[in-house]
Amino acid sequence: MENKKRHEKKEKKVASDLESLIKSENNKSIDTYNSLNWSGSFWDYIALLESNPKVARNSYQRLYDMVMSHGTEEFKYCKRQYVKYNFFQGLGDISIYGLEENLMEFMDILKSASRHYGPERRVILLHGPVGSSKSTIVTALKKGLEQYTQTEDGALYSFSWKVTDKNGDDVLVPCPMNEEPLKLLPDDVRSQIINNLNKTISADEYKLKLDGSLNPVNEFYYNQLMEMHGGDYRKVLDHVVVRRVVLSEKNRVGIGTFQPKDEKSQDATELTGDINYRKLAEYGSESDPRAFDFDGEFLVSNRGLIEFQEILKLQTEFLYDLLGATQEHRVKPRRFNQVPIDEVILGHTNNAEFEKLTNNKFMEALRDRTIKIDIPYLLKISEEKKIYDHFYNKSTVNKHIAPHTTFLAALFAVVSRLEESSKQDMSIIQKAKLYNGQSVHGFTDEHVKEMQEESPKEGLYGGVSARFIQNQFSNAIVNPRMGAKSLNPFMLFAQIREGLKSYSGFQSEDNKKIMFERLELVEKEYDRIVKREVQQALSSSEEAIKALCTNYIDNIVAYIQDEKVTNLVTGKEETANEQLMRSIEEKIGISNGMKDDFRREIMNYMGGLAAKGKEFKYDSNEQLYKALEKKLFEDTKDSIKLSALAQDTATVVDKELLEKIDALKQRLITSFGYDADSASDVLTYVGSIFARGDADEDED
Ligand SMILES: Nc1ncnc2c1ncn2[C@@H]1O[C@H](COP(=O)(O)OP(=O)(O)OP(=O)(O)O)[C@@H](O)[C@H]1O
Ligand SMILES: [Mg+2]
Repeated sequence: MENKKRHEKKEKKVASDLESLIKSENNKSIDTYNSLNWSGSFWDYIALLESNPKVARNSYQRLYDMVMSHGTEEFKYCKRQYVKYNFFQGLGDISIYGLEENLMEFMDILKSASRHYGPERRVILLHGPVGSSKSTIVTALKKGLEQYTQTEDGALYSFSWKVTDKNGDDVLVPCPMNEEPLKLLPDDVRSQIINNLNKTISADEYKLKLDGSLNPVNEFYYNQLMEMHGGDYRKVLDHVVVRRVVLSEKNRVGIGTFQPKDEKSQDATELTGDINYRKLAEYGSESDPRAFDFDGEFLVSNRGLIEFQEILKLQTEFLYDLLGATQEHRVKPRRFNQVPIDEVILGHTNNAEFEKLTNNKFMEALRDRTIKIDIPYLLKISEEKKIYDHFYNKSTVNKHIAPHTTFLAALFAVVSRLEESSKQDMSIIQKAKLYNGQSVHGFTDEHVKEMQEESPKEGLYGGVSARFIQNQFSNAIVNPRMGAKSLNPFMLFAQIREGLKSYSGFQSEDNKKIMFERLELVEKEYDRIVKREVQQALSSSEEAIKALCTNYIDNIVAYIQDEKVTNLVTGKEETANEQLMRSIEEKIGISNGMKDDFRREIMNYMGGLAAKGKEFKYDSNEQLYKALEKKLFEDTKDSIKLSALAQDTATVVDKELLEKIDALKQRLITSFGYDADSASDVLTYVGSIFARGDADEDED
């Protein structure tokens, strides 16, 4: 009885929680609805402007503010200072990785445009190889604008005319281009108001500026009402209902896209609007703006952004509209005067098309009005890897993705794009690692800079795109022959090899050959990685490696300072154990002549850490860590015949060995991120390397 009551009470509580959740969400959505659908008189709008003058900013200023509203971070790479714009890092499902320098360039241009320094009268052209994220960047900007205009900070406004139709009913006629309400004021009044508003905006920010007349529809109603009110424009303004505008590509408000199609199916009305024949019947004249649809792509994109896909494939008839829109901020619909527009014009093109532009006299006018921003392929493995991690991870793929798979995909992608360095002894893999900020013996940040200067076009030409790799990923994931449960690097390599065979983007046969060679280098790199990993798994008893490290350190300290060490077992004082120290140092190729230097270096390193209040650990020094691991591995490997791993475990009869293999597999699963399948694969593979007997080949 008691129980039942308690249960009922609980149910009631859940129901009332849900109810209040729905209520509060509903209230929120009503609030949002109300604020997004705000409307008021012209005078309400003026009051609103006084409290927030930025409401009247132009499209460049708004886009710039939108990106900045997500915040920025600064960081250093190769001694240079960079800004990272959080906006590009994660907008829902869209993220742009790397490209910091290029996005900085883009933002500088927007900033300069927002201050009226000139770029606002140019086409901003994203230029790069196929699949370098040009479209993704534009999509992000569009989405960002849509969201921003739904916030208080990003709000913008336009208006409708309250007029009487021919039946005598009051109707609202919205401005078809969502023009700024201040444009309704006579020029001199408008500029005084703008001047006053500018006084309230801080000096290091942009200034508001509002030129251009009303569009033909607005002009029509304005003139009609002026006549009605005998030239009293304040009375005309009483017919104006100001309303909030939310930009939306789907609703064709403030965001548009133009895509070149073949000549026959496209004409200029797509950009500048067309006569509406149904309305023409009603209004009787082709020059009556009410009989015209101001819905060309340039017109609907007013206040926001227009994207020109493959801009250089544009037919010449469209070129003049584009040039006018860019240089004069005006377009000319048929039969009407020029209509002012305010929108960011963003084009993109791949480099093959761009080469054509540079050779085409006819396009010279466009070239001259273009600001080109390179969007190259990424050359940093860690950034490229993020692309694949973003698309292929636990939540998107129902297969286990084995460790290193996305890393190797990224490594191949980067390596395919690099130019050979003129530096002696610099392998292409080493170059990729250096670009990735990893240390490579014998090279420094200075070398990175030199190599970058040596190959200024690196990333813009040649190599495979992220899209190519994505295709191989998705093929490998769905391919039933590639294993049912997990996707590992071997499968991806096989798929990339297939992909390369049928890839048509190579510049030459030679180039194709190089791609296959580089794929092999990446596969070799994988050999090294897994060998090391299995070694680690075998010797990854932390206790053992800690003990070995302490032992080694005690010995080198004693050696350098010419003291005795206490033998942990016997408690006796002994001289430093030269044999032990050497057996470790040899593992990383420290010769007898170099040993003193190495021991001192380790001591200095410890001293350096201690001075910073940090503790020296077995993995503090990369080189020593490697040596310790190898030593431990040597000591333990004989207890487990690695070559036996290459056999099918079902045929291994030695029970003790089976247990050891199993323990190793478990360690790979728990500490290294494998699943059972991929752990088996990797053990078999490493076993086969050891069986071949080339286990001692060294890295870097
Ligand atoms: N730097 C990057 N950050 C995030 N994703 C990227 C990056 N580079 C490429 N991609 C991915 O590559 C794919 C192709 O990108 P997108 O379609 O934007 O390229 P594009 O430059 O417009 O290519 P095209 O010239 O062929 O039109 C997308 O899935 C995108 O996510
Ligand atoms: Mg594209």
